[in-house]
Amino acid sequence: MADLNELSEKLSSIKAEIKAELEKKETSKSVFEYRKTIFDSKTGKIGSLMREMGKIPNEMKAEYGKRVNEMKAWAQDMFEEMDEKFRKEEMKHRYESEKLDVTMPAREIKIGYLHPNTLIRNRIVDIFGSMGFEIYEGTEIETDYYNFTALNTPDDHPARDMQDTFYLSDKFLLRTQTSAGQIHVMEAKKPPIKIISPGKVFRSDDDATHSPMFSQMEGLVVDKGITLCDLKGMLDEFVRRIFGEGTSTRLRPSYFPFTEPSVEVDVSCFQCHGKGCKLCKGTGWIEVLGAGVVNKKVLEGCGIDPDVYSGFAFGIGIERIAMLKYGINNIKLLFESDLRVLEQIRE
Ligand code: PHE
Repeated sequence: MADLNELSEKLSSIKAEIKAELEKKETSKSVFEYRKTIFDSKTGKIGSLMREMGKIPNEMKAEYGKRVNEMKAWAQDMFEEMDEKFRKEEMKHRYESEKLDVTMPAREIKIGYLHPNTLIRNRIVDIFGSMGFEIYEGTEIETDYYNFTALNTPDDHPARDMQDTFYLSDKFLLRTQTSAGQIHVMEAKKPPIKIISPGKVFRSDDDATHSPMFSQMEGLVVDKGITLCDLKGMLDEFVRRIFGEGTSTRLRPSYFPFTEPSVEVDVSCFQCHGKGCKLCKGTGWIEVLGAGVVNKKVLEGCGIDPDVYSGFAFGIGIERIAMLKYGINNIKLLFESDLRVLEQIRE
């Protein structure tokens, strides 16, 4: 550096360069990067001025140092000013792009509900559970023996025609009734027995009130001195709790091979209370389930002495109860999962 004039010129050209460069910058980040290159102690335009101090003749050192420091302060102010300007703009932009309208209504959250079949099954399980029944869960694939033969329905028995069966092989089938579970329970456990057994059953049957797959709830009580009266008393309590106070049952003679006597159970119409309406087809009564006193042959087959023990059994169609309770006229509506239907049924 020959003299101070040369220094002045150099400083002016650095200033001009910084001004021109900063004008081109558009972000605080690029300002920051540029600042680093200017102040770099080895390669920077301003940084290197300080290094050159060593080469300056002593008498010029004070003035050189003063001017370089002024230059440094000027440049720092320039950079700071630009940095602040861009930062403000950038923050503003960020706030705007991340703006939340807290007054906007929230999107509606859809909540799932239990299916009508599940509601009814749970309700029935609760009622019998409170009466001390245990739950036995059978299997959907059964042998011919458990589904029919052990239930006093041998091969050539006409009652086999009552239930059109899906056979998987000569021996195996899809159970047509949860009654098959009765045999498993009586084989495994000696009285007193008090169980319910919910589950799917299958029959080749298909119309507005029948589906090839539907659900039943089996009930079985075996102990000393059990009679049809016990069945009637228990069913009266059951219908009161499922269909409402004031309902009662009526037993009509029927036939099932594994019960003797057998009955169809009607509930007094919970809609018209006996006056006669569309639901009960003007009769005041609605058929709800099949039941009876356990056939002695069945007890014997399971190794239970029919002279000591007796029992009753019943089978409830879960879809049938759901259809009656919720006013559903086609069983298919319970299997189609159409939310427009299901959303109308809430408990
Ligand atoms: N299993 C019979 C049916 O599906 C119902 C039933 C169960 C009848 C228990 C009597 C006793 O039709």
